[in-house]
Amino acid sequence: MRTFQDSLATYGKFIPYAAIGLVTLLFMRKTFRRGHSVLRRKHLAKGKTILITGANSGIGLAAAIEFAKQDGRVILACRNREKAKKTVYAVRNETNKGTLVMKHLDLESQSSVKALAEDLLNTEEKIDIQVNNAGVMGLPYALTEDGVERTFATNHLGHFILTNMILELLKKSKEARIIVVSSMLYKRGMINLSDINNEKAFSSQDAYSSSKLANIMFANVLSKKLEGTSVAVNSLSPGFVRTNLSRNGLGDSWLKSLLYQTVGHFLMRSPKHGAETVVYCALDPSLKGVSGKFFRDCKEKDLLPHALDSAVSARLWDACVDFSKDIKT
Ligand SMILES: NC(=O)c1ccc[n+]([C@@H]2O[C@H](COP(=O)([O-])OP(=O)(O)OC[C@H]3O[C@@H](n4cnc5c(N)ncnc54)[C@H](OP(=O)(O)O)[C@@H]3O)[C@@H](O)[C@H]2O)c1
Ligand SMILES: *[C@@H]1O[C@H](CO)[C@@H](O)[C@H](O)[C@H]1NC(C)=O
Ligand SMILES: *[C@@H]1O[C@H](CO)[C@@H](O)[C@H](O)[C@H]1NC(C)=O
Ligand SMILES: *[C@@H]1O[C@H](CO)[C@@H](O)[C@H](O)[C@H]1NC(C)=O
Repeated sequence: MRTFQDSLATYGKFIPYAAIGLVTLLFMRKTFRRGHSVLRRKHLAKGKTILITGANSGIGLAAAIEFAKQDGRVILACRNREKAKKTVYAVRNETNKGTLVMKHLDLESQSSVKALAEDLLNTEEKIDIQVNNAGVMGLPYALTEDGVERTFATNHLGHFILTNMILELLKKSKEARIIVVSSMLYKRGMINLSDINNEKAFSSQDAYSSSKLANIMFANVLSKKLEGTSVAVNSLSPGFVRTNLSRNGLGDSWLKSLLYQTVGHFLMRSPKHGAETVVYCALDPSLKGVSGKFFRDCKEKDLLPHALDSAVSARLWDACVDFSKDIKT
């Protein structure tokens, strides 16, 4: 009978080839993956006006490219005018379809949010798709000019105000969709209603996770408020994506940062792959009328109970109204 050692002696020399083969297969899978079928469709965005925040980098940029490829009229809301110009070149490098419109938006500033909203109300007939994508992570504790903690202000409150101020434009569309880009880190988020500004024991990681939980609660409450209208609201997680999101560091732990830069880099997907669920939620015909759901990898996904707490969600909504100077809902 052959022993394990014999087998190893005979076949052992193939182990390196098998390993190379496996790595090649993994590489090919990443390189040649075809993506969700929505990406192989054409003109799904024709005649549609799509507003997307944070469109000059990462997932937002990849989604903007796809919306343009699908013949959409894309309004790119970005805070940095220089980067925004480069974004137009980047999108044009990928496709010459669609129409691109640049708008300035700094979500940290309520006056900037209000200015964009008023501009859109004056210039647009309707908005068909709104993607609340812009986000920050790893910021140290600081308050905005409006006295709101920056991560909460950018990731949640700014989008809350913008969406509420331009809702009438979405209602003018025959079939409008609002897409809220959240994260699986919502699981670690907590809404402390007596400390929404994260003033007590601030951790940038917690501030991020909680803002992503707030995103989901917002989508769920808004979808209820909009029942019976033509506007659907869904939230999603894009997956673990190679973007500039970690530019401010990860906050607390050096070990986490090291793992993120090494192992993380291998596990992360491309921005294009990360934008797939955004594009799916925005354009896939099968989602007509679907609202108040959460998606990941182009599939509906159940949420943990704390994200579905309607009492906390409603109180968070009211707190946001109190934080904002121009919203009376
Ligand atoms: N990457 C991931 O693994 C991952 C995972 C889960 C969820 N997400 C979510 O995906 C979304 C997009 O992030 P990303 O990964 O693509 O990161 P990214 O490459 O850093 O892009 C973030 C975008 O948000 C913009 N932004 C930041 N602060 C802003 C402000 N105050 N006003 C206006 N725009 C602002 C940025 O503009 P500037 O270039 O001017 O800074 C940038 O365009 C975020 O909501 C994030 O939470 C990402
Ligand atoms: C990250 O930011 C740099 C500089 O703004 C930009 O050139 C690059 O495309 C961004 N990366 C991604 C993945 O968007
Ligand atoms: C566009 O493509 C050209 C040529 O491929 C390249 O040199 C340029 O850097 C690209 N610009 C952007 C903004 O991606
Ligand atoms: C919520 O914030 C208050 C401060 O206003 C703090 O005393 C309390 O411990 C916080 N709750 C949790 C669960 O962190």
